Amino acid sequence: MTNNQKIKVITFSAMMTTFIIVLGFFPAIPLGFIPVPIVLQNMGVMMSGGLLGPKYGTISVGLFLLLAFIGLPILTGGNGGAASFMGPTGGYLIAWLFTPLLIGLLLRRIQALHLNSWWWELIVVVVAGIIFVDVAGALWLSWQSHLPLFTALSSNLVFIPGDFIKAVLSVMITRRLRRSLGFDDMFI
Ligand code: BTN
Repeated sequence: MTNNQKIKVITFSAMMTTFIIVLGFFPAIPLGFIPVPIVLQNMGVMMSGGLLGPKYGTISVGLFLLLAFIGLPILTGGNGGAASFMGPTGGYLIAWLFTPLLIGLLLRRIQALHLNSWWWELIVVVVAGIIFVDVAGALWLSWQSHLPLFTALSSNLVFIPGDFIKAVLSVMITRRLRRSLGFDDMFI
C-alpha cells in the first residue's frame, strides 16, 4: 500500500467511526418484550467490513466501541460507558467488534473462489452481520437477564426483517463506494 493509499484508508476508517456515531442519533425503537431495541448503528458495523476490509473495518468499529466503553454517550439514545457493555445489549456490542473481521475475511474467501457476485456478498453480510450478531446477542441476553435460551433466541427473530433491509442497503452502498474509492484491489 502506498503512503497516499494509507492516508486515504485511515481517513475513511475515521469517517466510518463517525458514520456509526451519527447513526446513533436516530432514535431506538424499544420493544416491550425484551430489553433490546431496534437500532440503526448495526448497519454501519455491517458496512465497515465490506468497505474497509477485515483490518481497517475492525479498527473503525473497535475505535467506536472503545470510545463508547470509556464513557462517551455515542451508543443509540446517548448511552455509553462500561455499564452498557455489561447490560442486556452487551453481547451485541461485543459481537460488533468481530463482525467486520468476519465480513472482510469471508468476502476475500468468496473472491478467491470467483463467487464475487452481489448475492454472495449479501449472504456474507447476512451470516456475519445478522445471524452471528443476533445469536451472540441472544446468548448474552439469556445469561445476563436470566431469560430461557429459547425465549432469547426466538425473540431475536423480530430483528430479522429490519436487519435484512440494513444488510441489503449495506451491500448496495459498500459495493459502489468500494469501486469508486478504488478499495476493491486493496482489501477484497
Ligand atoms: C446498544 O446500543 O446498546 C446496542 C443495541 C443492540 C441492538 C441489536 S443489534 C442487532 C439487533 N438489530 C437491532 O436493530 N437491534 C438488535
